Amino acid sequence: MPPHILVFATHNPNKAREVAQILGPRFSVLTLTDIGCLEEIEESAQTLEGNALLKARYVKEKYGYDCFSEDTGLEVEALNGAPGVHTARYAGEGRNTADNMELLLLNLDGLNNRKAQFRTVIALIANGQETLIEGICAGEIALEKSGVNGFGYDPIFIPKNHQQTFAMLGDEIKNSISHRAIATLKLMDALK
Ligand code: IMP
Repeated sequence: MPPHILVFATHNPNKAREVAQILGPRFSVLTLTDIGCLEEIEESAQTLEGNALLKARYVKEKYGYDCFSEDTGLEVEALNGAPGVHTARYAGEGRNTADNMELLLLNLDGLNNRKAQFRTVIALIANGQETLIEGICAGEIALEKSGVNGFGYDPIFIPKNHQQTFAMLGDEIKNSISHRAIATLKLMDALK
């Protein structure tokens, strides 16, 4: 049987390769670039679920492929779930990850409750059906940045049952417990 073509609504080939490895040879995972979708897909929803669905529906409607998309947010308990859907632009448009982390540490200054979670939502549209999938990694926000691995907020996120940040733990440990890893395994189950 030929592989089931599945578009991952991302321009990031590294993300696509990672998922393709997990899904195995029954699936051929293409990126937006692979299908000639070079435009930015709007992410104007107020929830991770909404944004994931916006992107997956856009690809299905405009290009016809079965597809999935992913949206991730960092949700901090003492900040009522912020930055959440605004995680990428927490410190404002045009600011970088260092600015985002600095603002988050500032907003938690003096607070004892530093509980947080990374939450990944995958919207899958395949075989005529829409499915929402969630992966959560619980933990807490460190008092200061440490570690050099990973990306984004990794230097200030300490996953539950660990004493070090994702950026100190390194990719191998992170990829075995992360929100994205959990969501991707559930995606594989949903595609069986
Ligand atoms: P995206 O949905 O992958 O674009 O991620 C949204 C925001 O969450 C960006 O600011 C990322 O840097 C951050 N983010 C997503 N996944 C992770 C992670 O595994 N570690 C740290 N930051 C992340």
